[in-house]
Amino acid sequence: MLVVPFVLARWGFERIVADAAEKAQMAEELQSSIKELKFVQAQLVQSAKLASVGTLAAGVAHEINNPIFAISGRTELLLRGKNRHLLTDSAVDDLETIKEMTDRITAIVRRILEYSRTSDETADFPVNTALESAVSLLSAKLTSKSLEVEREFTASPSVRGIENQIQQMFVNLIGNAVDAIPEWGKITLGCKIEDDMAVAYVKDNGVGIPKDIREKLFEPFFTTKEPGKGTGLGLFICHKILADQGGEIGLDSKQGEGTTAWVKLPLSATTSGDTAASEAAHWGLNSDTAQSTP
Ligand SMILES: Nc1ncnc2c1ncn2[C@@H]1O[C@H](COP(=O)(O)OP(=O)(O)OP(=O)(O)O)[C@@H](O)[C@H]1O
Ligand SMILES: [Mg+2]
Repeated sequence: MLVVPFVLARWGFERIVADAAEKAQMAEELQSSIKELKFVQAQLVQSAKLASVGTLAAGVAHEINNPIFAISGRTELLLRGKNRHLLTDSAVDDLETIKEMTDRITAIVRRILEYSRTSDETADFPVNTALESAVSLLSAKLTSKSLEVEREFTASPSVRGIENQIQQMFVNLIGNAVDAIPEWGKITLGCKIEDDMAVAYVKDNGVGIPKDIREKLFEPFFTTKEPGKGTGLGLFICHKILADQGGEIGLDSKQGEGTTAWVKLPLSATTSGDTAASEAAHWGLNSDTAQSTP
């Protein structure tokens, strides 16, 4: 007679224990989902903030442009005009400082406007063409030093993105490479395909990047250049352009030896197909099999 309730009680106990263990596991899973959701929410808030900061910055830059142009022009006039002899030495010093600072503001405004003015049409284009256009845009800067520009394109893939923004990004990276080379040196431009992404790079044998500043490189306004020589917005904008277009950016550097700035860009659908086909041919498969293989 006692056996049945005992069995029932035992079953009940095991059920409770099992329930408790199940509940604990469910609570743990819930906790981790909540944590993940919070993380995603924080990221969304951050990107929404960044997007509105971008729009606001472009608007502010536009408004600043005219007054700063007037200040800069008048300062220049005072410094170089026919009444310069009326200025004391300390007034000249002050005006030089005003000029230097307004030049800095002008450079920052130009950077922000350049970035916000570019069209945002996504299309397929050859990445090497964007690199070569950036080289042409920088021809004056490149010839200002004794530089050898070498190419090592092992692939010429077509990528999907916003061409003029990608070109602007290469202008920034090549500009940094030129600035990193004191007087003479070599810049190597290259492109290859890796893991279904196009990897384009700009390598220089310049001064390299000290370890202690590497974490700050993509922060807005971080620069090691003299006032008037750099805004510190170049890499920040590169990072923003790539993040918006499904790409990645990184810099490998050895102090005293040089730096390689690389970017990964999504291949266009046709290039992905061609890559899969050539891989398939390499492995003796037909392209359908290779394409369906992750
Ligand atoms: N190829 C490179 N070699 C050495 N240092 C580099 C290189 N690229 C970037 N850096 C370092 O990273 C800093 C930030 O670069 P970023 O392009 O953002 O700004 P900047 O070049 O200083 O200013 P701007 O781009 O407006 O001219 C540079 O000041 C420099 O210290
Ligand atoms: Mg730069």
